[in-house]
Amino acid sequence: MNVLTFRTEEDLNRAGAGLIASLLQAQPKAVLGLATGSTPIGIYGELVKLHDSGSVSFAKARSYNLDEYVGLSGGHPASYRCFMNTHLFDKIDIDPANTHVPNGLAVDLEQECAYYDAMIEDEGIDLQLLGLGHNGHIGFNEPDDELIPGTHAATLQQQTIEANARFFDSIDEVPKQAITMGVAGIMKARQILLVVRGASKADIAKRALTGPITTQCPASLLQLHPNLVVLLDEAAGAWA
Ligand code: GLP
Repeated sequence: MNVLTFRTEEDLNRAGAGLIASLLQAQPKAVLGLATGSTPIGIYGELVKLHDSGSVSFAKARSYNLDEYVGLSGGHPASYRCFMNTHLFDKIDIDPANTHVPNGLAVDLEQECAYYDAMIEDEGIDLQLLGLGHNGHIGFNEPDDELIPGTHAATLQQQTIEANARFFDSIDEVPKQAITMGVAGIMKARQILLVVRGASKADIAKRALTGPITTQCPASLLQLHPNLVVLLDEAAGAWA
């Protein structure tokens, strides 16, 4: 595990974008596993700058997002498809047909999850970007006695619903379920880039990266990954 702590948000964002850009420069057809939430927004902003300056192209890249709310169409402003289009896809030269986000409106969720897993398995994710939930979740893999390996429909914990309510007009509008890649799908990525910001996540970051490996903190499984890079701001990494 390679843990890097940054003094400024700008430095952190540049480092994260730099890692993704280097991969694309070496491997233009790289398969990116992407994440939503407030954490990666600055990294996407830096990637757009690198793209605009001609330093990186996504023309041959493919992407798979971690998760999507069940019941939201890609046009819903709080959907993760909309988030990705707004913060990244619409601003770079990626072929929209090569961007994948689980279909939250799928009639048969089980079939959608199996389809998503088959695509991920077939392509193989080169780099998986991850944020961290306050309860240690990754994607929408919530703490539990057992974790599900593959892509599945997950029930969100109340803490997660509350944390994500800021993206909706009211907490009642936050979906109770989401399709998420499972922990096995995440762990199969060749490289994982975990990004954590803010004092409110210092404890869970420490627990995830230095505590016992337990399904009660899904991010703790990342300690087992052979190629994990962690980017922390000073507040989240005060313990490091
Ligand atoms: C959501 C997403 C996660 C994300 C987490 C943290 O629940 N499903 O993928 O990592 O929130 O979000 P934020 O970065 O906004 O703190």
